[in-house]
Amino acid sequence: MRKKIVAGNWKMNKTLQEGVALATELKDILAVEKPNCEVIIGTPFIHLATISEMLKDSVVAVSAQNCANKASGAYTGEVSAAMVKSTGAEYVILGHSERREYYNETPEILKEKVDLALENGLKVIFCIGESLAQREANEQEAVCKAELMGSVFHLSPEQWKNIVIAYEPIWAIGTGKTATADQAEEIHAFIRQCVAEVYGAEAADNTSILYGGSCKASNAPELFAKPDIDGGLIGGASLKAPDFKGIIDAWK
Ligand code: 13P
Repeated sequence: MRKKIVAGNWKMNKTLQEGVALATELKDILAVEKPNCEVIIGTPFIHLATISEMLKDSVVAVSAQNCANKASGAYTGEVSAAMVKSTGAEYVILGHSERREYYNETPEILKEKVDLALENGLKVIFCIGESLAQREANEQEAVCKAELMGSVFHLSPEQWKNIVIAYEPIWAIGTGKTATADQAEEIHAFIRQCVAEVYGAEAADNTSILYGGSCKASNAPELFAKPDIDGGLIGGASLKAPDFKGIIDAWK
């Protein structure tokens, strides 16, 4: 059966010291009360080595929020998938709408990143989702399918096992406006159908599809109760341990 996951995306928040403090608090809370799901924290690059070492024997896995679309070389300021892997991180978040929008990450660039991440033994949390204008034009299904086709549907069935999908409607990110559980379920079921068309029903059934966008402790239970919602990718509410723990508890 597919994994239940609660993943945090810290985005560009927390100094190294603040990040270490948050990871420590989370580790301590979850050592006392074991989670009923996989827990991942997506930290900035500079935290990865320290926090991966700290969380080595804990239930919390560590993710990067990006990696380069080149393997190595003269790309000043970039961080490769091999470098991310060498920190002890297990995952990388790719395709986030903020990176698509502010850093012009195209489907082709994301495809290169996905390939390099998998080649280097990372698991990928691949984000898709429509804008408000696209939702109002009822284009959400076409947008999500095109994003999958553009960057991940070329993968082999073996590689696909290391992909987690995160559906994040852009209009719900950081806005306090969550998709309703029914709205989210409808598109999650559609996404799973798309996966089934390419990889077959069993692979689709084993694929974790997370919801992201103003997910918090108060709405997580209703969202996670839906059959095709396998957890959340959490921004703002992952920045304080009690808030994040509240969402993890939605799986209890
Ligand atoms: P918020 O939870 O802050 O809306 O962010 C969601 C997100 O973008 C996670 O990647």
